[in-house]
Amino acid sequence: MQANSRPVSSNQCWTHPKLPAVVRRHLAAPWRKPVADYNRAAFAALEDALATAPRPLVLDSFCGTGQSTATLARRHPDHLVVGIDKSAQRLERHVVGGSDNYLLLRAECEGIWQLLLQRGWQPQYHYLLYPNPWPKSGHLQRRVHGHASFPLLLQLGGAIELRSNWQLYVEEFGLAMQLAGRPGQVLRIAGDPPLTLFEDKYRKSGHALWCYRG
Ligand SMILES: C[S@@+](CC[C@H](N)C(=O)[O-])C[C@H]1O[C@@H](n2cnc3c(N)ncnc32)[C@H](O)[C@@H]1O
Repeated sequence: MQANSRPVSSNQCWTHPKLPAVVRRHLAAPWRKPVADYNRAAFAALEDALATAPRPLVLDSFCGTGQSTATLARRHPDHLVVGIDKSAQRLERHVVGGSDNYLLLRAECEGIWQLLLQRGWQPQYHYLLYPNPWPKSGHLQRRVHGHASFPLLLQLGGAIELRSNWQLYVEEFGLAMQLAGRPGQVLRIAGDPPLTLFEDKYRKSGHALWCYRG
């Protein structure tokens, strides 16, 4: 992966003026999209893993190659850590980590979140590391906090950590969480070892990195 990535550039300078209205609209209307068969098939692997060994859950949504999933599995040895990404190409590049308490699902996060909620299963920790920023102002509703599935994320609960190299994205996420009654902290990330490939790339490119914790 190249180490000379450019900082996020956007036609948006402040948190999106429509964000409060979009979040309130989504909170008022439940997410109704039917779950695709391939999400159900992926979820079956999670059901099997929990049936074999019931454990508390950690989610690593938008996990990319799953490097973070393997690292988080070492950090949470008593949990099952579940990485979710829709890209087979990214997941195929996974380098197997040194612990057996994680699995990677090729699926849409929204579908897996829905199925978890149907089962009444909630993660203790939920990581969302460098989701696609969708920097154009007109793409607000593709961002995690502007998406119609945002209420699912809230219902799942758990301690949430979202990271981005775009400060505005994290501030918007923090604002959306506050509007939903879940205020947290927006912080600049210090120099811990990189948790993901994108974090490594951004750090080597000199970007400031931000996170929401709550
Ligand atoms: C910028 S990458 C970050 C990957 C990884 N977290 C990292 O930091 O290296 C964003 C990832 O989100 C995945 N993605 C985007 N929308 C998704 C969705 N709805 N469900 C699952 N994965 C999705 C993409 O395939 C991509 O791998």
